[in-house]
Amino acid sequence: MINYKKEIAVLLSEKIETLSYEEILSLVEHPKNTEMGDYAFPCFKLAKAFKKSPNVIAEELANTLPQTEWLESIVAISGFLNFTVDASHFAKNVIVAVLDQTSNYGKSEVGAGKKTIIEYSSVNIAKPFHMGHIRSTMIGESLHRIYKFLGYDTVAINHLGDYGTQFGKLIVAYKLWGDKATIESDPIPELLKIYVKFHQEAETNPSLEDEARAWFTKLENEDEEAVALWTLFKDMSLKVFNRVYEKLGVTFDSYAGESFYSDKMPGIVNELREKKLVEKSEGAEIVNLEPYGLIPALITKKDGSSLYLTRDLAAAKYRKETYNFDKNIYVVGSAQKLHFQQWIKIVELMGYDWYKDCIHVDFGMVALEEGSLSTRKGNVVFLEDVLDKAVVQTQAIIEEKNPNLENKALVAKQIGIGAVIFQELYTSRNKDYTFDLEKTLSFEGETGPYVQYTHARACSVLRKVETIDLSVADFSVLADEASKDVVRTLSKFNEVVVLAHKNYEPHTIARYAIDLAQGFNRFYHDHAILVDDAKVMHARIALVKAVKITLQNALSLICLEAPEKM
Ligand code: ARG
Repeated sequence: MINYKKEIAVLLSEKIETLSYEEILSLVEHPKNTEMGDYAFPCFKLAKAFKKSPNVIAEELANTLPQTEWLESIVAISGFLNFTVDASHFAKNVIVAVLDQTSNYGKSEVGAGKKTIIEYSSVNIAKPFHMGHIRSTMIGESLHRIYKFLGYDTVAINHLGDYGTQFGKLIVAYKLWGDKATIESDPIPELLKIYVKFHQEAETNPSLEDEARAWFTKLENEDEEAVALWTLFKDMSLKVFNRVYEKLGVTFDSYAGESFYSDKMPGIVNELREKKLVEKSEGAEIVNLEPYGLIPALITKKDGSSLYLTRDLAAAKYRKETYNFDKNIYVVGSAQKLHFQQWIKIVELMGYDWYKDCIHVDFGMVALEEGSLSTRKGNVVFLEDVLDKAVVQTQAIIEEKNPNLENKALVAKQIGIGAVIFQELYTSRNKDYTFDLEKTLSFEGETGPYVQYTHARACSVLRKVETIDLSVADFSVLADEASKDVVRTLSKFNEVVVLAHKNYEPHTIARYAIDLAQGFNRFYHDHAILVDDAKVMHARIALVKAVKITLQNALSLICLEAPEKM
């Protein structure tokens, strides 16, 4: 595919000596208003060197740049050079590329030879996998897919919360009140129940806390019974968690959680001591981070046991040694911003320059629309319950709208779960948002079902045509604004994917999917596709196919399926 942006930069660099080709390329942009053209080049930066006003420079460049077959016009407007690409050339160039590359359309090699670790979800053993966890889980999985798509060698890690003093409490609670069969039938709520009971009882019976501490120490010393119980909790929890991951289409390469680093703690604590970074403070050990405007980081507790932050230090070092990453990404909520600032600063103080490659990708909160979700167990809303409810409601919608649909059950899952994921990723990550199931499942508005429905609509048109013959197609019929807008959007897919990865922002792709779907629906509304004139029909159906492919690729990067019939 000809990259017009680059070609324009080539034309310009022959006339502009004061800026490098790369600088020129970085200045070429898409005008906000498409009436101004497809690409624009601002001349303001040239004023000083040319000793002329941007207006005059733009006029002069417009008159001296050479004509090419793919450019319809170059116009100077208030200091900008506006380029309009020949619609027929544009359409053919883009459509042929999409049809040729199919599921690879949008890929590039920006990540070739680079290794990226993405840590996400990182739920806690024996605790609910609740609605709030959708953020880390889906932003992380989407980034995982985007990075892979761009050629990065990726490692997806679920840093399970499977260690800490709470496991001592859980063991005590289990031994007092646990019933294996009951817990196995519904592990998380039952484990939560005895854990809550532990805290209630401990208020009047503080010796329980001592017992819990003793059991955690046993666990640290690999006492057989303690390890067996901990393993039981972990296995039962993972069974439930994996059921949710499967529903969401989320996968990991490693489940090395906090416990994995327990034997690496003494090493990291010693290193901190040797590097003279720790100080004693009331029996505990801390790193003073005051010079950097941060509160002190607690490394070991009074009783010598290690901490969450220390485990993160050990984990980062282990990852560098094991994977030699170029980038080590953590998808974790904004509430832990300080925690990440602290330990990344400590990595820097330890003298490791790869601290720069450790990136906290943070995000805001998700709240729940009052009344839209009932809480089955206490006041936590389980993510799995939301997914199941979305599927049931989608089934009802299908029964009403299209009862004869093939594979109804499967499609209901693809739409229902996809809708929840889309709603999550459609919000830019730093924004808080309120989850509203009704709005999420709507086929209208900016929703997952709307995009999926548009894809299915394209599929249904495509089923009516046996073959697409590009040699017959007359691409000049795609010169009207609705068609050209679709072509333009298609042409931007690669840029959008690169931008999403740069900003760690799957939202960019979700937004793109909506733009493409809306553009396609305008085109579909304005034009008959299956017309008698073969030149017209083949050009339009080729555009439909290109949209189908690109929508599917975009949906897959944000973890949605693209059913062909809905
Ligand atoms: N399990 C932790 C929590 O639920 C999140 C872990 C985040 N990852 C990390 N490397 N600290 O809060």
